Formats: sequence, C-alpha cells, structure tokens
Amino acid sequence: MRLFFASWPPPAVAKALAQWAREAQQGCGGRATREEAIHLTLAFLGEADPQGALAKARAARGRATSLMIDTARYWNHNRIVWVGPGKVLPELAELARTLGETREFAGHVTLLRKARPPAQLPPLLPLEWPVREFLLVNSRLGPEGPSYAVLERFALP
Ligand code: 2AM
Repeated sequence: MRLFFASWPPPAVAKALAQWAREAQQGCGGRATREEAIHLTLAFLGEADPQGALAKARAARGRATSLMIDTARYWNHNRIVWVGPGKVLPELAELARTLGETREFAGHVTLLRKARPPAQLPPLLPLEWPVREFLLVNSRLGPEGPSYAVLERFALP
C-alpha cells in the first residue's frame, strides 16, 4: 500500500486555499487539487506495510500546534504551485522525522500540478491551520489524479 502521514485542514481553510488556487490557475494553468484532497504531508512512506506505519504512529513524538500558511511558491522541478508556512515549526519537523520522513521537512501543500511558471502568484492572506491530529492515509493513483483513503487518525497531545 502507498502510505503517507498527513494533516488535513479545517473545511474553511481548505475552501480558502481552493479559492486561491483557482485565482492562481488563471495565471499559470495546471490542475487544481480537489478541495477535499488538500493536505500537508508530514511523512511519505511510499509502498509500506500498514502495521509498520501504525507502530511508527504510536511511537511518534509530537504536540498539537498551529501553522501559519503565509507563503506561496512555484517549484520548477515538478511544476507545482504550493503554499506553506514561511517558517517550519521545529515541533512539526520533529513529528515528521519520528513518523519516518527521511528528507528535510519542507512543509508544502500542493495546490496546482503541471502548472506553467507564474509571472506572479496572487496575494495570499495568512491562514491559520491547526494541527491537532495526524492521519495515516492510503494514496491510490488513478486517471483523475490520486485519491486518498484515511486509514487511521491519531490525536496529538
Ligand atoms: P506532492 O503533493 O508534492 O505530490 C501523497 O502522494 C502525498 O505524498 C502528496 O502530498 C505528495 O506530495 C507526497 N509524495 C508523493 N510522492 C512522494 C515522494 N516520493 N516523496 C515525498 N513525498 C511524496
């Protein structure tokens, strides 16, 4: 199973980000992430065994926190438009690391794929994204893009 740990935003934040993505799309095209699929990956496990992932989740170290989504960027290497916190919170990086993320945690929320380099991205009003739990998610790749099934939720103290 293709697995990852992620944080999902409250509905109002997802709605605001989907709206922002539609504005950005007018300038640079691309395919927008469906509103209900907007998430922040904490650790991407790839093909992994769910039992091992559950063990990781139980051993993870993390605390409930809140992110300020205030930065929008374009990555040339994979042609995505993403938003995220300007500053990565150390406690979230620690959670990502203990969940099995091996690369440096950047904290990005993909909003457009296959986008052209934008001349300018629309202004982004800072959005507060509370992180009170994390989810173990199974990603299935389909012709319409990935679909996600939540396998388990873990509350953060
Ligand atoms: P992306 O949005 O940048 O594609 C489910 O696929 C989640 O895991 C997405 O958030 C995706 O990030 C991330 N992901 C997919 N493949 C990955 C990889 N090889 N390394 C890290 N994260 C990955």
